[in-house]
Amino acid sequence: MNKIVIRRPEKKDICEIHNLFNLVIEDTFSREGFEELIEQMDGIFDEKTNYLKEDFASKGVERYFLIAEYENKIVGTIESGPSSKLLIESTNKTYENSIEIGTVFVLPEHQQLGIGSLLLKAMCKKLASENIKEICIQSGYKIAGAVWRKKLGKPTFIVDEYWGEDYDHLVWCNQLSRVGDIIVNDG
Ligand SMILES: CC(C)(COP(=O)(O)OP(=O)(O)OC[C@H]1O[C@@H](n2cnc3c(N)ncnc32)[C@H](O)[C@@H]1OP(=O)(O)O)[C@@H](O)C(=O)NCCC(=O)NCCS
Repeated sequence: MNKIVIRRPEKKDICEIHNLFNLVIEDTFSREGFEELIEQMDGIFDEKTNYLKEDFASKGVERYFLIAEYENKIVGTIESGPSSKLLIESTNKTYENSIEIGTVFVLPEHQQLGIGSLLLKAMCKKLASENIKEICIQSGYKIAGAVWRKKLGKPTFIVDEYWGEDYDHLVWCNQLSRVGDIIVNDG
């Protein structure tokens, strides 16, 4: 995948990014067996589109997105911003002033090709350049949970059955230098 370009989103990309959010949310909910939870899907879509608005409104200060492009098509996103309410709750306020990385979304047909890792690597590099020391990532999805476990190891916090029977909420809070090392060592 050496033709992937990681770059900042522009206004002309908004519609395509919204489509990507929709496709990834629908596919993820379907694969997790949550396809009937329409309201929750809409809620996540609204949250992500608001995050993107925040990025444009603050010129990347309040919220910062990166996108991955392959052959002129947007195939992935990632963003960083302040700790969300859910993160603060799930970490008993330990990480209320942390930086959270989220919206790591890769189009279904482009998953498992290293694009999520590339986005994470680029975001860590940007945060390190701002002297950020620590980052958190959270997930309630089983598939993403397996990806982060593989990359980041044991979660820092587990909220048992937060999303229902057998569906825990997992949070990883790590020194950025540690995450950077893992990702850099990935090659
Ligand atoms: C989670 C997600 C962002 C990962 O992105 P990706 O581009 O598919 O991941 P990568 O190809 O970079 O793989 C990262 C690592 O996870 C592993 N991995 C990928 N998919 C996996 C899966 N379904 N199960 C277990 N491990 C998996 C890869 O082998 C790789 O391991 P390595 O670094 O040791 O080689 C992507 O699958 C996605 O968009 N999922 C749907 C939305 C979502 O749940 N986002 C996360 C919200 S917290």
